[in-house]
Amino acid sequence: MSQPLLQIQSFSVSFGAFRVLNNIHLTLAPGESLALVGESGSGKSVLARSIIGCAGAGARQEGTVLFRETNLTSASDQTLTSLRGGKISLMLQDALSALNPLYTIGRQMMETIALKHPAFAKGAGRAWKGFGRSDKPALRAMALELLHEAGMDRAEECFHAFPHQLSGGMCQRVMLALALAGEPDLLIADEPTTALDVVVQKQILHRLTQNVRARRAALLLISHDLHLVSEFTDRIAVLYAGQIMETGPTRKLLANPRHPYTRGLLEAMPKANTPKGSLRPIAGEVPAPWERDQGCLFRGRCPKALAGCALPPQEYVVENGWASFCGQLPHTTIPHAPSGGGPAYALCS
Ligand SMILES: Nc1ncnc2c1ncn2[C@@H]1O[C@H](COP(=O)(O)OP(=O)(O)OP(=O)(O)O)[C@@H](O)[C@H]1O
Ligand SMILES: [Mg+2]
Repeated sequence: MSQPLLQIQSFSVSFGAFRVLNNIHLTLAPGESLALVGESGSGKSVLARSIIGCAGAGARQEGTVLFRETNLTSASDQTLTSLRGGKISLMLQDALSALNPLYTIGRQMMETIALKHPAFAKGAGRAWKGFGRSDKPALRAMALELLHEAGMDRAEECFHAFPHQLSGGMCQRVMLALALAGEPDLLIADEPTTALDVVVQKQILHRLTQNVRARRAALLLISHDLHLVSEFTDRIAVLYAGQIMETGPTRKLLANPRHPYTRGLLEAMPKANTPKGSLRPIAGEVPAPWERDQGCLFRGRCPKALAGCALPPQEYVVENGWASFCGQLPHTTIPHAPSGGGPAYALCS
């Protein structure tokens, strides 16, 4: 693996007395895509926002987040401001609320390009003073090009529209165009296609991964959809109650998951041929931050839990680059691929 672009080490985030992310370790190399999956409330968005120092008011961070040589947890506001939307871009979970309802898409895009695109940005972290008349034609042309790049069919029409005049899919494409405006080396996409139909989802993710790969940039893709991440990402990290449960190569891990939580997520996913009534949701709920202790946080819902699960879970290395945090793993019989060679858990793509 080449030199990591992003290294998250022993990273924790607390709000007041409650820890919502605990001891996260993740790396991302240039040209690589990493999926972050997990149930609602597991801490995916907090992690995404924390990387660029926007965890939220009152957030306390421990550990390090290295972006190349810069430790983002101790970086100055000026450094963070210059990186945001530039070398590091974040596509927020809710596209419509991330756009300013008072301005046209064109204006929002031209402002972002003027501030963040390498050809225009004239000073890292400088205050926004507007753009000159003479810059307008070039900014406009670039905005339209980015909208095309994001797969917007009627880019000109969209350029003049206000956010409320666009469909959900169009807003997501605008967010993608905005996220690409700074030619980011790291793109963090927090559920960029939620609530869109499967065709549009795939189109947007295809564009996004193509762009990222072509520039040897890295992608952190947050999603609930294991079908999509198995198609579009190289590695996966499974987050539960603020902790990594399992991490490894996406397709291999999803074909033969080792952690009972990953298996639970897969069993709860509908597939094309799932017979009616046969989905198995994971019983119970994610423990709230004030209910968490040192033991395995999944043990209250785990079908394989034993008394030893109350101890801190150990890292079990399945193979190089694939680790699972389940104290029972070395002793538990994991269902392996059937003798025919097919995966234990087949995802349709
Ligand atoms: N600003 C905040 N103050 C206090 N707690 C917060 C704050 N933001 C998030 N949390 C808590 O952090 C935990 C993780 O939230 P987060 O939004 O990261 O979950 P998520 O995995 O992104 O969920 P979803 O899939 O629903 O988007 C939750 O328990 C949430 O209540
Ligand atoms: Mg979220």
